[in-house]
Amino acid sequence: MDGELRSHLVHYFEENHKLVEAAALQLLLTDHQPLIVSRELVERSSGVTPFVTREMVEAVLANRRLPRVSAEAAGTAGLVRAAPRRVLPFELILEGFSGPPVATQPIAAYQALFHSRFQALARMLRGRPSLPNLRPVKELRGTESPTSIVGMVREVRETPQRHHLILTLDDEAGSVDVLVPKGSPGSRLPFLPDEVVGVVLQFSREPRRIPRVAAVERPEVPANRPIGRSPTPRRAIFLSDLHIGSRSFLSDSWAHLAEFLHGNGPHPELAASIDHVVIAGDLVDGIGIYPRQERDLAISDVVEQYAELGRRLAQLPPHLTIVAVPGNHDAVCPAEPQPALSANLTKALGPNVRILANPSTFALDGAVIEAYHGRSFDDLIPALPGASYARPTEVMRRMLQMRHLAPIYGDRTPLAPLPRDGLVIDPVPDILVTGHAHTYGVDRYRGVLLLNASTWQAETEYQRMRNISPVPARAAIVDLSTLGLVTLDFSRGAPVTEGAAA
Ligand SMILES: [Fe+2]
Repeated sequence: MDGELRSHLVHYFEENHKLVEAAALQLLLTDHQPLIVSRELVERSSGVTPFVTREMVEAVLANRRLPRVSAEAAGTAGLVRAAPRRVLPFELILEGFSGPPVATQPIAAYQALFHSRFQALARMLRGRPSLPNLRPVKELRGTESPTSIVGMVREVRETPQRHHLILTLDDEAGSVDVLVPKGSPGSRLPFLPDEVVGVVLQFSREPRRIPRVAAVERPEVPANRPIGRSPTPRRAIFLSDLHIGSRSFLSDSWAHLAEFLHGNGPHPELAASIDHVVIAGDLVDGIGIYPRQERDLAISDVVEQYAELGRRLAQLPPHLTIVAVPGNHDAVCPAEPQPALSANLTKALGPNVRILANPSTFALDGAVIEAYHGRSFDDLIPALPGASYARPTEVMRRMLQMRHLAPIYGDRTPLAPLPRDGLVIDPVPDILVTGHAHTYGVDRYRGVLLLNASTWQAETEYQRMRNISPVPARAAIVDLSTLGLVTLDFSRGAPVTEGAAA
């Protein structure tokens, strides 16, 4: 396990253009949250030094006030040591929600958010050989080709006759228009507002012409990255969009799921290997989420909906760790990242249930999982030609390429102006799970398992009106050591194994 973790950490630092000393790595491996510490090290040393030294690790560990032992017990005077590392069944890595905005003025608060986004994504792009002669926008000289810049896409427009694209790219101090020729390799993937890209520019000899984009780099998932998988073949089951309180909640399918997990179904050995349940949001149906929702509700009091959620989750075996994030139907601020649910709503939930912020990154038996409800599908699907709710994993692939879950500001997904952009995907998970689409999708991209978990609500009239055909009551069961997947279909009662062993 430590060998895999070591190589995972080395790749993480490489991806962030850091060289980590062997002694620093050794100390990191003794900590019980090495990924969190590594992330902090990268943030602290950004723009300061390309090296990660043992002293820097010691400083971060000391700041985090991890348990220390005395100098005599440590054997080395003054050395700060963390507690010995244990493989924890559940380990929180990072919650997307980072507390209230620091700035009181909305404009300053949003500036801080976009500054954080730019910093985090530019850091991934800097130092790549594919972005030669990288400069800030304000230092662009029209005579040096090629020159590269990193910018956030402020605007995309098309030239009227030849249909080339003109991008307006902003960095922290400047702004520039660049031309992406129609049919060029860089034009193949559509540009989305507020995503961060690196571009290689060629300047014309005619000084007034705008520079052409010769190549585009996205933050991306590194190819051939090592995967932080579990050392033991234990499994997790992935669900989403329970919509407890709705008349359309599939209580028969849920009862069969509970029977299966208790080992009373057709696959008791599979059920016995499951330790964890992950739920990707919309735990309850909520109230006032869409017009005339009250007609669809079996429970019209939101506190009572969470009490019923507690009862439904208590029907599952108590040894399971249940990890859930809220969605846009849950009773929490809708702006993303969303905080975890308040204590007055979670008091009805059992001690084995952990409600985290949306999104959140955590490890289950060492496999890294990022859970995000998926509200941004409502913006990304219309913005990406060919994308649809029936194929949500294609949108998730695009999220990984951008290393961002919800880049577009000012559309249907409200963004909270927090000091840290918690929707940046960092670190890259082994499993990215979403819900919201009420369909079911499994795919893989550069070693990451993409999972759009299925709903446990039948089709509602509102969905019929919006032309959404749900694919409900599929349970995705993932082996955390191999990321192999089995799908069980509970939509007709007793489970049926589906062939989607992607
Ligand atoms: Fe939902």
